[in-house]
Amino acid sequence: MAIIYNESAKTITLQTKNTTYQMKIGNLDYLLHLYYGSSVPDIDMSYQIKQYDRGFSGNPYESRNARTFSLDAQPQEFSTQQQGDFRTTSIEVVNSDGSYSYHGKTAGYKITSGKYQLDTLPCVFARDTDTVSSLEVTLCDGASDVQVVLLYSVFEEADIITRAVKVVNRGTGSIQLKKIMSVCLDFLNGSGFDLVSLPGRYGQERQVERQPMTHHIHNIGSVRGSSSHQQNPFVILCDREATEDHGRCYGFSLMYSGNFLTEVELDQYDQLRLVMGIGPKQFVYQLAPGETFEGPEVVMAFSEHGLTGLSHLYHDFYRTNLCRSKFVSEVERPVLINSWEAAFMDFDDVKLVKIAKAAKNMGVDLLVMDDGWFGKRDDDNSGLGDWYVNKDKIRCGLHKLVEQINALDMKFGIWFEPEMVSEDSDLYRAHPEWAMQIPGRHAVRSRNQIALDMSRREVQDYVIEKVNGILDDANIYYVKWDINRSLADIWSNALPAEKQGEVYHRYVLGLYRVMDEIILTHPDILFEGCSGGGGRYDPAMLHYYPQYWVSDNNHPIDRLKLHYGTSFVYPTCTMGAHISDSGKFVSLETKAVVAMCGTFGYELDATHLSKEEQEICKEQSDRFRKYQHITFKGDFYRLTDPFKVGNMTAWQHVTKDKDESLLSVVVTNLTCNGPQEYIRAKGLDPGAMYSINGSKETYSGAALMSAGLPIDREVPEYSAFQFHLVRERCTV
Ligand code: GLA
Repeated sequence: MAIIYNESAKTITLQTKNTTYQMKIGNLDYLLHLYYGSSVPDIDMSYQIKQYDRGFSGNPYESRNARTFSLDAQPQEFSTQQQGDFRTTSIEVVNSDGSYSYHGKTAGYKITSGKYQLDTLPCVFARDTDTVSSLEVTLCDGASDVQVVLLYSVFEEADIITRAVKVVNRGTGSIQLKKIMSVCLDFLNGSGFDLVSLPGRYGQERQVERQPMTHHIHNIGSVRGSSSHQQNPFVILCDREATEDHGRCYGFSLMYSGNFLTEVELDQYDQLRLVMGIGPKQFVYQLAPGETFEGPEVVMAFSEHGLTGLSHLYHDFYRTNLCRSKFVSEVERPVLINSWEAAFMDFDDVKLVKIAKAAKNMGVDLLVMDDGWFGKRDDDNSGLGDWYVNKDKIRCGLHKLVEQINALDMKFGIWFEPEMVSEDSDLYRAHPEWAMQIPGRHAVRSRNQIALDMSRREVQDYVIEKVNGILDDANIYYVKWDINRSLADIWSNALPAEKQGEVYHRYVLGLYRVMDEIILTHPDILFEGCSGGGGRYDPAMLHYYPQYWVSDNNHPIDRLKLHYGTSFVYPTCTMGAHISDSGKFVSLETKAVVAMCGTFGYELDATHLSKEEQEICKEQSDRFRKYQHITFKGDFYRLTDPFKVGNMTAWQHVTKDKDESLLSVVVTNLTCNGPQEYIRAKGLDPGAMYSINGSKETYSGAALMSAGLPIDREVPEYSAFQFHLVRERCTV
């Protein structure tokens, strides 16, 4: 069993293959955190804790005259409220008597085999082949009888520990939950940490920032009702000296798609605390006696092999334990062409068939009909919510259109934005009360659309019925699910005044129910998530969608940074990447090399391409299929950092058996008569010989990794190279 309770030391130790995590039922039954990091045997790590009389740091009443025990200076497993710990809280409640206080002491623990489940929120899962055990530790506040249940699952082989939390009101009065974090992790010595996060904006999602920890509370989160373009629910804490290959790195990835918060506090004694969970903005959840609240799961990983080691743990785990869709590993992803940048909303059935015919010559498998096919939708001012075919555009009807595409031996995909409504729509005219707007106030507009109140059951049912109606009516192979605004005017007409503080979270719960009912009931459809590009790219969404649109920004040079940032936690097989007209001075070949660091497809008017260009695309589509087993299943290496000044951006995929690799390089800058550049490969077998792009000569893996590969510099700017390395088999 990977979870061990030591009776005499009162420690609970969680062991994965390479990591150890330990807590202790300490003084006065407070639950202390002792360790998370590289494997250590099951010893009591509490020798690290020293106690002093710290001025202005309160002592629990039961300590009597002893002044050396203060929660303000002890590492805690779950920081509580008004207990003399003045650092970041993990829970904040208003009790039924109006007091703001939560004193949690350990009331019990349970160790079980298998993965815990949450009833209301998506979680990672254990496969039959995984060895997983779980721990439940219950904290109880003696005065209110409110329990906090800390949940842990240990994935031994994967080196992953998940955490989640439940709050159970066993008292006699209602309480208000104002903050509940899913994870709290204390480090006794935190002064040497850097924090890596993925901030961004529309068109530039998941850029990378790294900052040294100082004596502040560093706050990373979203208040936009979705996990957002602006921040991602993923952070890394790493040694200041950590590089791609060396150093300790801790990852925290939150499975939640609404407001979130990560707080990292370096305290007065250089101890560091990280908490992560649902964003507390406008969050006030009423818990009546007997009710339970669930906080989302955090997937934690630790690697002492640098940022690459950490990324590999997430890539491997998210490829196998996050999404059950058959498209994750059993079925090859199709090469698609999307109508958006080809025609925007200016299309009809005839035009779509023409694009599909041209795309067929390009080796494309799937035509996606993007925004503009439904209701009255010639621009983005109307039509959202009216999920029936616009007969002026699709004159032959959806059935016939799909049949025509299928007759070309191509598959058909369709776009929805199910969570939104236009004021100019039949849906809004029939149900203005379903739109999220505060009575007596005008709603904030964004792209001239309003969010539907997804917390309402009848709204969820409407969306389920309409979308499923279309999916069941025609031979749909693929769906792109979009959301194109941040939430504002948080209000539900279906809830009383005192429950309006629940709407942000109820929206997310409603959305998950809708996705359960649409996505999980259509296992043969490939779903791709989208939010004005990559605005809601989080693991909870990837629980449903095997792939997610990285960004509306298709410029191949900008994409180098987008793919780089995204790769810190999300694997290549999730990254929606297309070739479009964006990037006029960049060749089709460079665009293809960049898009092969993702799910690959086209987003342009194929009828405008010459025969030669179509043939080039056909070769690219074939090449993507040929290399898919390397890019989607192999290990990913960031060989250069596109945020640093340099002349090349390079990355590499290597199959698990190290037999094959795809090393990609884009020349981003060429100085006149400059030095020769070398790119050093990673992840190869040093003892093996590799051929490159079918060459007769072979090169030693060790040499390619230590001396590197010379990159031809007599090429136009923005040229790309793709080196396919194959291990030479000994034939004797
Ligand atoms: C968003 C998406 C685009 C496209 C448009 C359609 O911006 O990111 O790919 O689907 O919506 O309105």
